[in-house]
Amino acid sequence: MSMMRAMILNLLGCLSRALSRALPLLSNGLLREGIGPRCGPASFRFSLTSSSSSGTPDPSILPEEESREDPESRKPAISISIDRSGLHNPPEHLHEPHTDSELVKHLKSIIKFRGGPISVAEYMEEVLTNPHSGFYINRDVFGAGGDFITSPDVSQMFGEMVGVWAMCLWEQMGQPGNVNLVELGPGRGTLMVDLLRGSSKFSNFKKALNIHMVECSPALQKVQYDALKCMDEATNDDSSSKKTISMVSGSSIAWHSTLEQVPSGLPTIIIAHEFYDALPVHQFQVCQKILYSVSNDVAPPSCLWFINMPYFTSYLLYLTKRCKWASREEVTNLEHIEVCPKAMELTHQIAERISSDGGGALIIDYGKDGLISDSLQAIRQHKFVDILDDPGSADLSAHVDFASIRHCAEEASDGVSVHGPITQSQFLGSLGINFRVEALLQNCTEEQAESLRTGYWRLVGDGEAPFWDGPNDLTPIGMGTRYLAMSIVNKKQGIPIPFE
Ligand SMILES: C[S@@+](CC[C@H](N)C(=O)[O-])C[C@H]1O[C@@H](n2cnc3c(N)ncnc32)[C@H](O)[C@@H]1O
Repeated sequence: MSMMRAMILNLLGCLSRALSRALPLLSNGLLREGIGPRCGPASFRFSLTSSSSSGTPDPSILPEEESREDPESRKPAISISIDRSGLHNPPEHLHEPHTDSELVKHLKSIIKFRGGPISVAEYMEEVLTNPHSGFYINRDVFGAGGDFITSPDVSQMFGEMVGVWAMCLWEQMGQPGNVNLVELGPGRGTLMVDLLRGSSKFSNFKKALNIHMVECSPALQKVQYDALKCMDEATNDDSSSKKTISMVSGSSIAWHSTLEQVPSGLPTIIIAHEFYDALPVHQFQVCQKILYSVSNDVAPPSCLWFINMPYFTSYLLYLTKRCKWASREEVTNLEHIEVCPKAMELTHQIAERISSDGGGALIIDYGKDGLISDSLQAIRQHKFVDILDDPGSADLSAHVDFASIRHCAEEASDGVSVHGPITQSQFLGSLGINFRVEALLQNCTEEQAESLRTGYWRLVGDGEAPFWDGPNDLTPIGMGTRYLAMSIVNKKQGIPIPFE
């Protein structure tokens, strides 16, 4: 283990002051209940030619009253939560007409105005990020009271370990005095809070940070602003221009809706945790050796349907490009293929920026190191639901194609190297989560210890948790191998920890 990593872990270990945090967020039978007869998009598709088919101790050095404490966590009951990595298998749903929501009216008007269907990608983008009624736009959708759970909600150790990774990279970069720390899609801001708290003793790192949050949702920007204890400071006498400071670390912080808006010219560390899976995917289907792009249309009696379109959209270029990177067997074995042009473009931008400014990116998400077939899924209140059911009220996400990210980054610039993917469990394990959990277990109540163990196994486990002796249907399901980590770095920095 490198000196830097050992020092960081040692310091984290010394900072054990027991505080209540999230009670165990337990995955339970809901994940399995969601698995029913296959009736995803395929059951709604038809082709035009033929029908086809924590009570965790907090390592913070902040004064006790300033530490993060989730009010939800204090509820004495077991909370139920679901991560988003399972394949969607919703129950059969009848698309009976009911009063259309604003978003459905909007989708129908686009289809009507265009005189034809819209692509699945356009549907996904509207459903998630439509500026008036997109799923993410107006509310906090995370945690036990929301629709799904992510790793930072499971345990503070996740953000702390990402902080260890960022500090190690910063050290490999030569400890620059000024660095952009960019988070793409920060959700509630929990990961960033844990990263900053965990690294706050490293004053040179802390002083170097200029934090940039890339978030499209005004409601979540506000949640992040509050979580990071932000304050606006006037930068000149007439207070017409303001700079925002996060009181968690004393760093400057700014919000943007795209990566392009983040100022360039400084070495940059980019974190994208569960961001890529929210980017819109195009779906293609091969029927009787004819390639169709899957689209959404309105069918009588005025319901949204999936339809296969035999015409070739401009997105076919992305499909062609993606398939060139795959083996012949990989392509011919698939009846459906998902391609994410926005992910390809984003990766291009990340690679160019890291090549010119220095630094690196960390991408953690669920997916696989190869072509993705048919993974689009919808989750509402911790249950899988039909993709077309009440659009805008459920999250849509798709599995991430890590091989495509690697090829895009390598194609974009000779100045970067790509590492991984490795499993989340390898990533967190190599960064020292075992030492961290042991240190925290030294100084906590029995209830906190149980929460720590549950959170730990949820993050690194691969199925049943050995510590767990509750009912089987409440056994925590691990995210350790279903989530993968990949890093894109400037070649000058060498191989990033822990991808060596
Ligand atoms: C699944 S959440 C991940 C949240 C967080 N990273 C976590 O792990 O808890 C996706 C996040 O990306 C944001 N988002 C989704 N699409 C976006 C886009 N096109 N541009 C900017 N932010 C987006 C959402 O508002 C949300 O904050």
